[in-house]
Amino acid sequence: MSTEKKATLTFTDGTAAVEFPIYGGTIGPDVLDIRKLYGASGKFTFDPGFMSTAACESRITYIDGDKGELLYRGYPIEQVAVHCDFLDTCYLLLNGELPTEEQSQDFDGRVLRHTMVQEQMSRFFLGFRRDSHPMALLVACVGALAAFYHDSLDIQNPEHRFVSAIRLLAKMPTLVSMAYKYSIGQPFIYPKNSLSYTANFMRMMFGTPCEEYAVNDVLTRALDRILILHADHEQNASTSTVRLAGSSGANPFACIAAGIATLWGPAHGGANEACLVMLDDIQRQGGIEKIGEYVGKFKDKNSGVKLMGFGHRVYKNYDPRAKLMRETCHEVLAELGLENDPLFALAMKLEQIALEDDYFVKRKLYPNVDFYSGIVQKALGFPTSMFTCIFALARTVGWIAQWNEMIGEPDQKIGRPRQLYTGPVRRDIPQQFRRD
Ligand code: SDX
Repeated sequence: MSTEKKATLTFTDGTAAVEFPIYGGTIGPDVLDIRKLYGASGKFTFDPGFMSTAACESRITYIDGDKGELLYRGYPIEQVAVHCDFLDTCYLLLNGELPTEEQSQDFDGRVLRHTMVQEQMSRFFLGFRRDSHPMALLVACVGALAAFYHDSLDIQNPEHRFVSAIRLLAKMPTLVSMAYKYSIGQPFIYPKNSLSYTANFMRMMFGTPCEEYAVNDVLTRALDRILILHADHEQNASTSTVRLAGSSGANPFACIAAGIATLWGPAHGGANEACLVMLDDIQRQGGIEKIGEYVGKFKDKNSGVKLMGFGHRVYKNYDPRAKLMRETCHEVLAELGLENDPLFALAMKLEQIALEDDYFVKRKLYPNVDFYSGIVQKALGFPTSMFTCIFALARTVGWIAQWNEMIGEPDQKIGRPRQLYTGPVRRDIPQQFRRD
């Protein structure tokens, strides 16, 4: 971090002025190092939702919200999504560089040879109702992985961290497909390591013991690209959760389970499921003719509904992933002969209307990664309830890379924010409430 710039904070209440160093990164906004503020002034900063707070230094992913730019270790998402596959992207995010052919073979081989889970885990599912939301099963199963891997829980040991990373990357597709199979009453399909990572996942999801599963290269490549688009995204809510959980020294399986739980929310990774539910709703109520009525609701604070898949804390321009997702959506629908899919037509019309509406334009609300992902995942055969599980599968590598980076920081500390307290001052328990 470069620093020669400084900021001085003066107070009108007689508190002595405090000077802060300003650090600059390679690209993006400078930061004020305010770590000494409380010691020097007895005051905290106040930033609910972290609208203006950088919680860490990172070298992994960069987002320019105004330009609509996303870089994975410096490479634009438009290039990574087209020129790389998902395991290349995992290697890049974890190691900082794209793999050579030899490194790729070694890494891919390690991941593909760790895809099975301990057999006892298949009985774990029996404790759940068949109609449980698959995210509930995923949170439980990923956290439960810690029960099996006592040999790799020393997070200060880089080798343990690497082994845990491989295990998580390798087993997420297996666990996600087990959650799905359990929900539809079909037998679990064991991984087939001669297939690619994504083809293996699709076979575990859609294959049955009764017949050979035919890999469709176009659909497999489309899903591989969807995984790449969701792989990492700077300090979003679930990644910040993983970092905070990891800062306490919790094991990697517990940290990733916490990330999955956070991703579940409809304001975050649950938005793709909510977006498809919204599009299905509009379609049922009359489709494109009804869009105007719905847009009116999205703009009405009292309606309690938002245009799901639109808006973003960082992007105040088009989410580059949404553009790539729309292209992928088009490819998949064409491959499946669904070019006239009514939901895709409805989504494109809704996008066009919203982008011309002053409410959305003024607030710089654009489609985000979740706007088209539900349509393409539904076309690929995934039920709506599985969309966020697919997001979690993809984001696992980002969570691990960010967790690894945090653990590896020399001055790593437990995360412990403070507060503005506005509750009652000290008081005694009245006699009538005392049980002694
Ligand atoms: C993801 O952080 C990440 O990087 C996340 C993610 C990742 O890869 O990890 O990119 C993945 O989570 C994408 C976002 C998915 N969520 C949705 O699509 C849900 C719908 N979007 C909104 O809930 C909202 O846009 C957020 C949560 C995404 C962002 O909210 P902010 O930054 O807190 O902004 P805000 O809620 O303060 O909105 C600003 C204004 C408000 O109106 P005013 O108070 O100014 O009048 O815009 C309005 C909001 O009411 N607004 C919307 C809206 N999003 C914001 N109004 C209607 N529909 C929407 N979708």
